[in-house]
Order: sequence, then C-alpha cells, then structure tokens
Amino acid sequence: MIRESNSNQFQHIVFPHEERQRRPINLASGPPGFSYSSQAEDDLPEQEARFLSWLFKKAGLDVRQYRSETLHRRLTACLRTLRTTSLIQARQLLEQNPKLVTAALSAMLVGVTSFFRDPAVFEHLRAEILPELAHQKKGIYAWSVGCSDGAELYSLAMILADLNLLSGSYLLGTDCREDAIERARAGIYEPELAKHLPMHCRRNYFEECDQGLRVATTIRTSVRWRASNMLAELEAGLWDLILFRNTAMYFRSEATATLWPRLEAALKPGGVLVLGRAERPHGVQRLSSLRPCLYRRNRGS
Ligand SMILES: C[S@@+](CC[C@H](N)C(=O)[O-])C[C@H]1O[C@@H](n2cnc3c(N)ncnc32)[C@H](O)[C@@H]1O
Repeated sequence: MIRESNSNQFQHIVFPHEERQRRPINLASGPPGFSYSSQAEDDLPEQEARFLSWLFKKAGLDVRQYRSETLHRRLTACLRTLRTTSLIQARQLLEQNPKLVTAALSAMLVGVTSFFRDPAVFEHLRAEILPELAHQKKGIYAWSVGCSDGAELYSLAMILADLNLLSGSYLLGTDCREDAIERARAGIYEPELAKHLPMHCRRNYFEECDQGLRVATTIRTSVRWRASNMLAELEAGLWDLILFRNTAMYFRSEATATLWPRLEAALKPGGVLVLGRAERPHGVQRLSSLRPCLYRRNRGS
C-alpha cells in the first residue's frame, strides 16, 4: 500500500494492485454481432433527433442508447436552459458558446439524487449487507455507477465510517457528466439537503462552509471520482457492491441488454448489485433477488 496526494492535497490511500485491476475496459464496439437499431432517432421528430444526436456526440455519448420518451420530455428543459424555443437557435448558441454544452446535457440527463435516497435500502445495507460483505476483511470495494453529484456514494461512505470499515474500503463513483463529478469531488451541498440526513451523520460527517455544507475531509478523501460513459467502458475488477440506481430506466433495452451481463461479471461471487425501485436486471443467470432493489451474484458462480 502506498500513499499519494490527490488533487485536493489530502492524503489518499492507493492499493497499487487494485488500481491495475480497475483499469476501464473498452466496450465501444459492443459484443460481436451487436448493433443498435436507429429506432431511437426514428421515434423522435427528425429535427429533435438530429439536434440531440449532435449534442450527445459532443459529450461522447450515443443518443440511440437512451429512451426517446425521456429525451423528448427533457428537451423542453434543455431549451429552457438555453433560453430559446428553437432547435436551430439552440445549436447556434451551443456552437458559439461551447461552455453551454455541459448545462444543456445536464438538462437532458436526469441527475436527481439525494443523501440516503430510499432509506430502507440504506438501512438494510447498514444492518446486514455491509457487515456480511466485509466479513473478516477491513473494508469493501464499492462502485457507484451513474453517481451524479455524489450524494449516494457519500451516504455509503458514512455508513462504512459508522461501521469502522471506511479506511479499508475502496470507493469509486463514475458519471458521464464532468460537472457532476466536479461537484461530487468538491462535496459541497445546499444546507437544505441536510434534512435527508440522519442526525448523527449531519453532526459527525459535515462541516459548514461559505457555500453550504461540506462533507468532512475523512469521508471526502476516502472516495474517488471519475468521469466516464458506462455504455462505452466499464470499470474492470471484481466489486463487492455495485450501486446502479435510477439510471438503467433511462436506457433503451438494447443498451441495458449488454450492460446487465457486464455488471454481473464485474461483481465478485457473493457480491451485491443495488438497483432503483423500478429496475430489474434482465437476461442474466447468476443474479438472485435478495429483496426489493438488491441482487446477489450467486456464490461459486
Ligand atoms: C437519476 S441519476 C441517479 C443518481 C444516483 N445513482 C441515485 O440514484 O441517486 C442518473 C445519473 O446517470 C448518469 N448517466 C446517464 N447516462 C450515463 C452514461 N452513459 N454513463 C455514465 N453515467 C450516465 C446521469 O448523468 C445521472 O447523473
């Protein structure tokens, strides 16, 4: 184990062999013989499809992997962000001012999240899953895929701290939106978010700062963040816990059909996948349902 400084100048623990294992693997070409239908774009009015295809490409994303109903619905918010009602003008504005691309994309990709969202799931993680995953170990390997601004993974980190398992854990959050990753790394939140926090978490794991509430250094420096497109690359390695919540619901079934087996393979045997309430893994044999939202990769599989 060696120590290095991260960009925040805080000491960060690095596990060299784990770092090597966790290099992303490229999925850009998809499995052999796989191709996306162009239906997503066909489902949208032609002008919308052309605009969105162009916008998503700017961020390295393929719009055909997203459900057209959501895209169509979110487009209004995107245009509102750009203060226009015209797609032609929206594109001109984005071409003239590329910095607006981030805001336009954030309006398209739903980033809703909060601390301890769906408290029953976190309570079950605290009481049963995490102690069991860490059995006879000092921590766990956990990955939040589609982590948004980090509230989900910080919630997990606080529970691990309560259980004395944080310093031995490896926590990674990834999201395709660079601005969300920057906010996660900064760990600063509106004070009103505190209302979702258990009292002892607010007291022990946050400090007040000029901009609001900041996640305490011990928690912040235990988590790594990376901007990446989960549909083009997955973090390699075997994870004890993968949080993939409230994100699959925005993808077309062609996209999730390739994602489920890869997430299943990324879990250790006995490892646990956490999904949102409306999501189910399809077409995989080695995951068994534990209770709503929780799936375990079968031991010995
Ligand atoms: C609704 S949020 C879920 C946040 C968190 N998991 C939760 O449940 O509270 C969905 C997140 O998925 C991210 N996302 C969408 N497409 C993605 C992609 N291709 N790769 C990585 N992240 C993606 C969005 O940017 C957004 O932050």
